[in-house]
Amino acid sequence: MTKLSVNINKIATIRNARGGNMPDVLKAAIDCELFGAQGITVHPRPDERHVRYSDVYEIRPLIRTEFNIEGNPIPQFIEMVLRIKPQQVTLVPDSHDVLTSNAGWDTIANKDFLKEVITRFKRNGIRTSIFVDPVPEMIIHAALTGADRVELYTEAYARMYPTDRETAIAPYLDAANAAIEVGLGINAGHDLDLNNLWYFSRSIPGLLEVSIGHALVSDALYFGLEKTIKLYLQQLK
Ligand code: PXP
Repeated sequence: MTKLSVNINKIATIRNARGGNMPDVLKAAIDCELFGAQGITVHPRPDERHVRYSDVYEIRPLIRTEFNIEGNPIPQFIEMVLRIKPQQVTLVPDSHDVLTSNAGWDTIANKDFLKEVITRFKRNGIRTSIFVDPVPEMIIHAALTGADRVELYTEAYARMYPTDRETAIAPYLDAANAAIEVGLGINAGHDLDLNNLWYFSRSIPGLLEVSIGHALVSDALYFGLEKTIKLYLQQLK
């Protein structure tokens, strides 16, 4: 079964809007696991507008499932990941000024850099994943960096899903087959929700993990966190 990793950045965004500790991000991480999530994802950004670096340190000892830290491997990020040693690190090429991640890596242009960073993480026993667009060439080159997995950037799938789900999934099938061929594990994330998740997870062979934040936290406003997590888990069965 595909694992659900809950991205708790949006909970931190609500907390940061008022400066206090409501909602409590650490409690949310514990509760997501209690309610059935098989992983917790955080994505600290350099401006700390979502989850803060200090949150990441505090969350680490609380996690009983899988801790996945995403981010752009700038020196501060690399240092934190090496100190925290999560089960998984996902490398994302997000720049300072973007609202959210909006592209995968060019694994050809950045191969040497990625290889160097991945070698450091792997030497420390941390599983590595590279955020990529569903482009077989990028996936083949991702394998050459030594990464363990790729995370397929699903924004394009989610956008097209309501009008033409077969066309929307097609590049992801090619990408998944390329990943399987070169021995990479497959994760996915971005804009997955209760409408489009089931079709994606049942279509993609060997999908190991999805990380979901925005839609899941939004759904929790209506259903509550516990029920929402159960609804997402049902889609992955
Ligand atoms: N994967 C990556 C690399 C991301 O940057 C994000 C958003 O922080 C997600 C997955 C989760 O996306 P969403 O919040 O749309 O579920």
